[in-house]
Amino acid sequence: MSANDIKSVRLPAGENVSALGQGTWGLAKGTHPRTDEIAALRLGLDLGMTLIDTAEMYGDGDVEELVGEAIAGRRDEVFLVTKVLPHNASHLGTIAACNRSLKRLRTEQIDLYLLHWRESIPLAETLKAFEELIKAGKIRHWGVSNFDVEDMNEILALSGGASVATNQVLYNLTRRGIEFDLLPWCHERSLPIMAYSPIEQGRLLSHPVLRDVAARHNVTPAMLALAWLVRQEEIIAIPRTGTPGHVRENRAAFEIHLDHTDLDQLDRAFPPPKEGRPLEML
Ligand SMILES: NC(=O)c1ccc[n+]([C@@H]2O[C@H](COP(=O)([O-])OP(=O)(O)OC[C@H]3O[C@@H](n4cnc5c(N)ncnc54)[C@H](OP(=O)(O)O)[C@@H]3O)[C@@H](O)[C@H]2O)c1
Repeated sequence: MSANDIKSVRLPAGENVSALGQGTWGLAKGTHPRTDEIAALRLGLDLGMTLIDTAEMYGDGDVEELVGEAIAGRRDEVFLVTKVLPHNASHLGTIAACNRSLKRLRTEQIDLYLLHWRESIPLAETLKAFEELIKAGKIRHWGVSNFDVEDMNEILALSGGASVATNQVLYNLTRRGIEFDLLPWCHERSLPIMAYSPIEQGRLLSHPVLRDVAARHNVTPAMLALAWLVRQEEIIAIPRTGTPGHVRENRAAFEIHLDHTDLDQLDRAFPPPKEGRPLEML
């Protein structure tokens, strides 16, 4: 298993990123020793999981600081994603939030800067800030998170809106609502989805059918849940772990090939949506 053979996903601007990245929500709060969490992120880089997703919200900046420590000396290997909180997402607020994130992350540039979710500040204002940050070299791409189809249509209608790089949303076997509308909408436009909480924060792992299919492949339920996601085109999954052993497992999800029997069994246990429903968020 080398870092080079990892599947990648192409962003609209033409750049490839690893289809399996690393989430960070919940790190830096003492669940695991800090050294383990840093070692886990660094091991993920060694194994080619070079996209790291964080946010100014996580631990009120503590997680960005931990990420900054983990990637110190290895910045060039990382595709770094962070997010601005919606109440900071005014024109000047976004620029100030970005500067704070850069400092905590100990870097000069963020690769992808996302609006974490949408609130009342007009999208055009946030977009204007994103464009200025790109011109200033502080971010390379921008995108959104927790945007449903109507929000996506709105952003595309704005001047400059077509350069949105991704939409990061909740997507896993128990949260398949986006397959009805948002996912096809994104596929039609070759816009990758970043699937957050890909193992439903661990709640998915005790499901008997997931365990059954995983046992047939001689892998863990977490690996199976990730394999189900990353077998799809234009999906980037960002599992979070502070446990180095779990990083190895998660990376090995690419080695699992699900056949029709597996997929049918999973579809019966986790049915795809038959009608549209509002986007779910965690
Ligand atoms: N944009 C948004 O609004 C939004 C919302 C939620 C999440 N996110 C992003 O998505 C990332 C992932 O989502 P998440 O953290 O909510 O949940 P998740 O990745 O679905 O699940 C994390 C949990 O799974 C465990 N785990 C990971 N790999 C495992 C394995 N191989 N075997 C067993 N357990 C395993 C972790 O424990 P251990 O540490 O012990 O392995 C942790 O408790 C976040 O960290 C964040 O970066 C974004």
